[in-house]
Amino acid sequence: MSVSPSAATPDWLLFFRKFLQQGRAIASFVPSSAFLAQAVVRTIHFSSARCVVELGAGTGPITAELLRLAPPGCRCVIIERDPDFCRRLRERFPQADVAEADAAHLDQLLRDRGVNTIDHVICGLPLPSFPPRMRAQLLASIHRHLSSEGTFRQLTHMPWIYQRLYQRYFAEVRFHLVLRNLPPAGFYVCRGVRS
Ligand SMILES: C[S@@+](CC[C@H](N)C(=O)[O-])C[C@H]1O[C@@H](n2cnc3c(N)ncnc32)[C@H](O)[C@@H]1O
Repeated sequence: MSVSPSAATPDWLLFFRKFLQQGRAIASFVPSSAFLAQAVVRTIHFSSARCVVELGAGTGPITAELLRLAPPGCRCVIIERDPDFCRRLRERFPQADVAEADAAHLDQLLRDRGVNTIDHVICGLPLPSFPPRMRAQLLASIHRHLSSEGTFRQLTHMPWIYQRLYQRYFAEVRFHLVLRNLPPAGFYVCRGVRS
């Protein structure tokens, strides 16, 4: 029987326990640092963004930065599959649109909200360890909704290793290294959908 963690359980401990239980589905043993969160969100042009989707929010370090910077006219949809993480996200961000769901249902989640176009996707999902078919389906769904000027931002703890993987799906892929994270990490900013 699994017991819900109390609100007093620190993020790092909750995250570490999830990593021990679920391994590759969590893919990291600690949440992203505030430095990584700031770096991945900072270069979004919020003045023109109407919708940002976060996939795999965990305990919410990226969510916090996103909600801090997004103006009222920019809708933020936060998607996370794990119920304990979702509870924590809702406690911490009671006004946020947190969907407890598998990212594989992105099309339906957007349809339910009347969202057709996404300006930016921030993805914390361990995409390289997804089955290839599931990864391709999710990226196809993102391609259908991403605006022509939009970006897909993928967090990673394996700097540069998966550059080629994302180049299969996007015309332009740039990697940004963030040393102030445990372990040093970074993110890809991908633009231009490949057919
Ligand atoms: C590496 S953690 C990133 C957490 C957070 N974004 C951060 O930077 O600290 C990956 C997250 O993706 C979630 N996840 C994994 N597979 C998922 C799926 N198919 N749908 C939704 N969330 C998923 C996990 O529960 C976990 O919270």
